[in-house]
Amino acid sequence: MNVHAQSGLLLRPLELTDLDELMTIEVGSYPFPWSRGNFVDSLASGYQAQGLWLDDVLVAYCWAMEGVEELHLLNLTVHPEHRRCGHAQRLLDDLVGWAVPRALWWMWLEVRASNQAARSLYERYGFEESGLRRGYYPNVRSSREDAVLMRLDMRQRLEAMKRESAVVDGMQGALRTP
Ligand SMILES: CC(C)(COP(=O)(O)OP(=O)(O)OC[C@H]1O[C@@H](n2cnc3c(N)ncnc32)[C@H](O)[C@@H]1OP(=O)(O)O)[C@@H](O)C(=O)NCCC(=O)NCCS
Repeated sequence: MNVHAQSGLLLRPLELTDLDELMTIEVGSYPFPWSRGNFVDSLASGYQAQGLWLDDVLVAYCWAMEGVEELHLLNLTVHPEHRRCGHAQRLLDDLVGWAVPRALWWMWLEVRASNQAARSLYERYGFEESGLRRGYYPNVRSSREDAVLMRLDMRQRLEAMKRESAVVDGMQGALRTP
């Protein structure tokens, strides 16, 4: 567990006891949210699951699955009242800082084609579009929606983070010990 005392931010692995709080955010964020069972299974599978708390309130979380030389980002969600505060970027920075020393070079994800907020976040972060999965997602209407497949070169991103500012480096160290 690591505390970033000055900002009131705490980043730590998610646990079963966090799921009630998490489910409120999940259900309020997606038309087709993950079920509680999906999260329980993901914990049992040993997926990377990090939560970010601000003054004891869960404000964001991410789930990722480790593969060979790659990481698959499965879920990245920020509390609706805490968006545009840099929390998603903070969680991505943490994942990159965790993954590269473990020889995981690429981060992959799928995003709904209509999800402009998420696509903007990922593009700005350095992800590149790598393909399209047609009809990947269910939709509220009968037709299904395409997923855009995106890929990040995490080594390149980590180098950019190091160059960008000492502040980011300091935050990384404060939020999670490698
Ligand atoms: C997408 C999401 C995770 C972004 O989280 P966030 O914490 O608000 O993002 P950040 O504050 O880290 O944003 C970083 C940058 O991404 C871009 N961005 C984020 N949200 C955006 C939006 N709604 N519109 C346009 N650009 C956006 C901006 O460039 C932003 O930088 P800026 O605020 O300085 O302009 C959040 O909106 C969310 O949880 N949405 C619902 C769940 C979801 O769609 N998850 C992604 C599934 S693939």
